[in-house]
Amino acid sequence: MDAENIRNFSIIAHIDHGKSTLADRFLELTNTVEKRKMKEQILDSMELERERGITIKMQPVRMKYQLSNINYQLNLIDTPGHIDFSYEVSRALKAVEGAVLLVDAAQGVQAQTIANVEIAKSFGLVIIPVLNKIDLPSARVQETKEEIKRLLGSDSDILEISAKTGKGVEALLEEIIRRVPPPKIEHKERNRALVFDFEYSNHQGVIVFVRVKDGHIKKGDNLTLSQTKERFTAGEVGVFSPNKKVVPVLNAGETGYIVTNIKKPSIAAVGDTVVSAENPLPPLDGYHTPKPVVWASIYPESQDDFNGLRQAIERLRLSDSSLAFEEESSGALGRGFRCGFLGMLHLEIITERLRREFGLNLVIASPTIIYKIKFTDGTEKEIYSPSFFPDENLIKEIYEPWVHARIISPPDMLGAIMQTLHEYESEIGETEQFGDSRIILNVKMPLRELMRDFFDKLKSASAGYASLNYKIEKMRKVNPGHIVRLDIFVAEELVPAFSRIVSRGRIQREAEDSAEKLKSLLPRAQFAIKIQAKAIGKILASRSISALKKNVTGHLYGGDRTRKMKLWQKQKKGKQRLGKIGRVSIPQDVFVKMIKS
Ligand code: GTP
Repeated sequence: MDAENIRNFSIIAHIDHGKSTLADRFLELTNTVEKRKMKEQILDSMELERERGITIKMQPVRMKYQLSNINYQLNLIDTPGHIDFSYEVSRALKAVEGAVLLVDAAQGVQAQTIANVEIAKSFGLVIIPVLNKIDLPSARVQETKEEIKRLLGSDSDILEISAKTGKGVEALLEEIIRRVPPPKIEHKERNRALVFDFEYSNHQGVIVFVRVKDGHIKKGDNLTLSQTKERFTAGEVGVFSPNKKVVPVLNAGETGYIVTNIKKPSIAAVGDTVVSAENPLPPLDGYHTPKPVVWASIYPESQDDFNGLRQAIERLRLSDSSLAFEEESSGALGRGFRCGFLGMLHLEIITERLRREFGLNLVIASPTIIYKIKFTDGTEKEIYSPSFFPDENLIKEIYEPWVHARIISPPDMLGAIMQTLHEYESEIGETEQFGDSRIILNVKMPLRELMRDFFDKLKSASAGYASLNYKIEKMRKVNPGHIVRLDIFVAEELVPAFSRIVSRGRIQREAEDSAEKLKSLLPRAQFAIKIQAKAIGKILASRSISALKKNVTGHLYGGDRTRKMKLWQKQKKGKQRLGKIGRVSIPQDVFVKMIKS
């Protein structure tokens, strides 16, 4: 198709503002999917996404629409709505010329809306502001319009729709054709395409999802991925309608996929550029590899599954270049992997997928962040496992990542929010008034603190009204002795999986809490068990579990045989899954519950 008649766009929205619902209406209106085949939220294809109702992975789609007797090709690239994936959002937005800014009329502008608008503006995209959910009685149409105007700094026409009932959606589609400019093409002959996503197939290897910026790409073309310098010959090329459909050629301005047949991991990455192998154009700018910020250990519940776990992680890595991993082993839990994630949600998604898609039973231990440590002997190291966090006398300096968080809230919640921020070692910066009923708070805090369930705390402090967005910033030096490793000993033996890094100020409370919690979880044994929490060379808390009287089942009333059998069975099963610490066996679920805290 002539590039003049192509429109590439995204929908940007805060979580739950209705992006997927709107995409569904577009698919119906353009007859891309027959109405009777329409499953709700067809673009959220992962089972997990459907269940959690949150978009993680982008699914692009090509639609056709006729306006004033002209046929248009509309390419919609869906963007993930969660902060963990903001790099993917920004790469997706590089692939389009315009963005529909969708705002829930009842909730108004939220933190994620602002973050996305900033990216869209910095890329020079045309932004079409749209109020969604106007069918709701609680819709605050006028106020939300004011907020959007303030956010955009312009008086541009704001559309009103209900993605649920379909009201106003066709008018919006036409407005997209009118307002979003057609793609600009620099080079007609030489090809260049932006990778905005990719997947892995057993038959076809890596399949890159691209927006062709220059030239055209067809089957048999010799191509290279600019970053990894990996050469390949294009297998099939095609488009998403919404399922994959082979086409003879992908032209400049279009969106589609290229089968690379490369069957190696770590080859494709979001943001990379596909160019001709013989006569390459320079890569598109702005590429970087997102760096994992949260690390956690993943162990199979049974060591027999270790190889299965390795294969599963390698498999997921093929379609998720931001997932990092390395093998490690811990006395109690055996062999496993230390994995790096973009954030807590990313961690949750990956572990959930390992469980569901590969049927693995897992233990997830000690999520933590990266610390850069300068040692007294002049060496330097990045530490991302609490059990390797060195003793105080070996440390010269510690650096840790900080975040810039933006919180949006109604002003009357400010007091409670400030109180919470205070507990999280925050530096409170500028406060901006935003519309009549909202303020924006600019806050800096250590990522370590943010990870302590800050989001949940903020939600409860603000009765659910506050929303949060954050960016990882530079590392900052930590005051000496401010953070320390807290170790847990069971029967005089260290349990590395329970080690944590905590602030000095909270160490006593954390020590008491951990010891108490472990006491309540650990089953009694034939002998007394001592639990100790130690840090900075001192025992800060200690508990003991008294020995079991001889016959466990003896005091079950009435000598009920089935009950006893059940208990024996349970004990037997428990034994198979125990982590042995010296004389004491720690059941798997105790690990899981301890780490969850
Ligand atoms: P994420 O994928 O998590 O980013 O969410 P989303 O922005 O895709 O939101 P989604 O489309 O899943 O909609 C969130 C909820 O709002 C769902 O329960 C929808 O049914 C509902 N919803 C979406 N649009 C409308 C609307 O116009 N009116 C009403 N009343 N509800 C809507």
